[in-house]
Amino acid sequence: MDFLSNVEPYRIKVVEPLKITTHEERQQVLKKAHYNIFKIPAEEVFVDLLTDSGTSAMSQYQWAGIMTGDESYAGCRNWFHLEEVIRDITGYPYILPTHQGRPAENILMAIHLKPGISALGNMFFDTTEAHVLNKGGLPIDLVIEEGLQTDQDHPFKGNVDIDKLEQTIKRLGREKIGIIHVTVTCNNNGGQPVSMANLRAVREVADRYGLPFYLDAARFAENAYFIQQREAGYASKSIKEIAQEMFSLADGCTMSSKKDGLVNIGGFLALKDEQKYRQAQQFLIALEGFITYGGMAGRDLEALSIGLREVLDQAYMTNRVRQVRIFGEQLLQAGVPALQPIGGHCVMLDMKRFSPHIPQEHFPAEALAAQLYLDSGTRACGLGQLAFGSEDAQTGQVHYSPLEVVRLAVPRRVYTDNHLKLVADSVIRIYEERNKLHGMQIVWAPPVLRHFTADLAPLQE
Ligand code: F0G
Repeated sequence: MDFLSNVEPYRIKVVEPLKITTHEERQQVLKKAHYNIFKIPAEEVFVDLLTDSGTSAMSQYQWAGIMTGDESYAGCRNWFHLEEVIRDITGYPYILPTHQGRPAENILMAIHLKPGISALGNMFFDTTEAHVLNKGGLPIDLVIEEGLQTDQDHPFKGNVDIDKLEQTIKRLGREKIGIIHVTVTCNNNGGQPVSMANLRAVREVADRYGLPFYLDAARFAENAYFIQQREAGYASKSIKEIAQEMFSLADGCTMSSKKDGLVNIGGFLALKDEQKYRQAQQFLIALEGFITYGGMAGRDLEALSIGLREVLDQAYMTNRVRQVRIFGEQLLQAGVPALQPIGGHCVMLDMKRFSPHIPQEHFPAEALAAQLYLDSGTRACGLGQLAFGSEDAQTGQVHYSPLEVVRLAVPRRVYTDNHLKLVADSVIRIYEERNKLHGMQIVWAPPVLRHFTADLAPLQE
């Protein structure tokens, strides 16, 4: 592609006005939200980089598809459209629609796990981990060492450590493992891709021990694009061909369509095995709905069937990954410690290097998230000690989260480079005065998944 590939391959037809607030107003909003950015009303946010999930802008074709929604309880036409598209991309014959990714994970883990049985993967996303634990299972992260080093360059930092995978199976015993579930791209370390060679190696190990191997495909198209750009032998293949090869190596996948489905709600579970499909159907009907809608409206099934085709477009994806990379590079050039290389859907800031004067138990990620909101009305997500760590109130013992990061997730087709420049300038401004950043303390928090609802306060006002 020529220089046109540096530009958005679409123009804007509908706009959503943003509210401009003052510093004082943001101060009030933040206080009222108990310094937890999840509790800030979205209308008070200027650039919302909390998540890339369910926040995509749909195309005119998807909106037109919405009008063709067939809301019949059983066998609506939109379901057949969606089933055909998913079969075409994944090659899996058995598809079950779900209202988002986590019910698909719940059903898959219910089929493969029971108490005391482990689930192995690169890095489990928090909801997937919760479903593994809910079944009494034990999630084990086996991402390569480089995947946890924020300042090391590696083209596929989402890769599974194959030696560790095999050693873990040998150590625990084959009968103690229920499933291998690999996330593409790996969300927890910043949307880092998994190579085809690595997926092939996981398949070989799975076959050697007779283990089922699935993909968490939330960002499968972004992963396929990185393979095209970075892995030998894939440069002339289309994103779709690469995705098809990725899926062919696994026994099925869970999918949160709210990412690479380019829709605001939706998900699915897709399988190769008919027996498992029959089992999954029973869970689906009890948990989500009939097998041809699974918690989604007919119109949403249609929007997804179109979005799944659009996400495979080379021009779309080139610009998508370019936008996130340019955003991240502005920060790197200013010396801000962002995770390298820049991933597919977000820029992550390493708070251990950003503000080493704030210990992890004083929640530096939440301190920056609050400051970013104050400075520019930007909303970002802290993913560190508050989300993944714990402190024992009795013994005072701290269980540390391995990463302490702030994630700036970029919604698809929503913000311009100008919005992201505003955020980059704001991060750089705070970084230049990082010594002024103060830690936070918990005023109230639930025992698990505490970052969503905790009340916080600054250590020093
Ligand atoms: N798997 C991955 C890799 C995810 O990133 C998510 C969601 C899920 C599964 C669950 O899907 O939300 O549709 O039920 N990630 C969002 C995020 C919430 O902000 O990264 P869901």
